[in-house]
Amino acid sequence: MIDTINISVEKTTNSKLSQFDQENLVFGKLYSDHMFIADYENGEWGDFRIVPYGDLSISPANTTLHYSQTVFEGLKAYRTKDGEIAVFRPIDNAKRLNKSAERVCIPELPEEIFMEGLHELLKLDHEWIPSKEGTSLYIRPFIFGFDPYVGIRPSDTYKFIIITCPVGAYYAEPVKVKVETHYTRAAAGGTGFAKTGGNYAAALYPAVQAQKEGYNQLIWTDGKNHEYIEEAGTMNLMFVIDNKLVTAPTGDTILKGITRDSVMTLAKEWGIEVEERPIKVTEVIDAIKEGRMQEAFGAGTAATIAQIKAIGYDGVDYELPAVEGREISNRMLADLNKIKSGELEDKHGWLYKI
Ligand code: COI
Repeated sequence: MIDTINISVEKTTNSKLSQFDQENLVFGKLYSDHMFIADYENGEWGDFRIVPYGDLSISPANTTLHYSQTVFEGLKAYRTKDGEIAVFRPIDNAKRLNKSAERVCIPELPEEIFMEGLHELLKLDHEWIPSKEGTSLYIRPFIFGFDPYVGIRPSDTYKFIIITCPVGAYYAEPVKVKVETHYTRAAAGGTGFAKTGGNYAAALYPAVQAQKEGYNQLIWTDGKNHEYIEEAGTMNLMFVIDNKLVTAPTGDTILKGITRDSVMTLAKEWGIEVEERPIKVTEVIDAIKEGRMQEAFGAGTAATIAQIKAIGYDGVDYELPAVEGREISNRMLADLNKIKSGELEDKHGWLYKI
């Protein structure tokens, strides 16, 4: 790639690579040796650098610690069967980061800073990319306000940082989810479509309550009447009803998932009817009761394809058909893995090679 920014590199003298064991990967526990940082000051991004992964020094008055002026992304790098490094759809993440940023008054980050920072970081930390099936290097780019100021206004200074960590599956097992009909994740005109910290903080309490009841995750519903299915917070939701793939349309309350888009694209290619339309909770429950719901799953970067085994609604748990027999989602996971590993042709130009 053509370099348009100058990135200084300070290598670690204390590598943690000996702790990296691709047989025992826990999501988000062990971070790779380096991180990319850019600073925003006086109206522009600069001081591009790769430094050893480590703690930051932050003012206790830091605006983000108080008011959550922050956005983030999640994407993954894979090792192909030929030993190359491939990142899945990074330019889409760069674009989505800026959409989220605009909503919380964070200045635009030029895409070349995102792409070149990522490129150089992965070149340096390539040994951290696992090769075992189902594993990857999870990449977490984020921007946050850096002003030491507790008054409310957009920060004047920001940091853009990329950290990475080798990961296995986010959900090790099929999940049991509860339809949330009291708490609200996102409202019309709010920040639901953005990957901003506050959305996730607001979801913690309801999720913890559901976990106490034995559920892994929530199905969020619309904030007005809790009548329509939205998303799961960590992933978009997909249903196979009457052999059609159905998912809720994204708007200002649902994250426009990149895995969601990949799933819809592949399903259409296979000749499956795909419907992107409002889905009533009662439609889902009726379809399960009438045996017309063949599959339900979540789609997200961290989760990839997470099978849903049961849905709780109004105090009743509705069991879904056995995961082994689910044709679309099982093939989807297998084909996505094959595209990422180079075993299937990358027809859509989704892979960015390092
Ligand atoms: C991702 O899938 O990358 C996400 O950002 C979800 C996160 C909550 C783990």
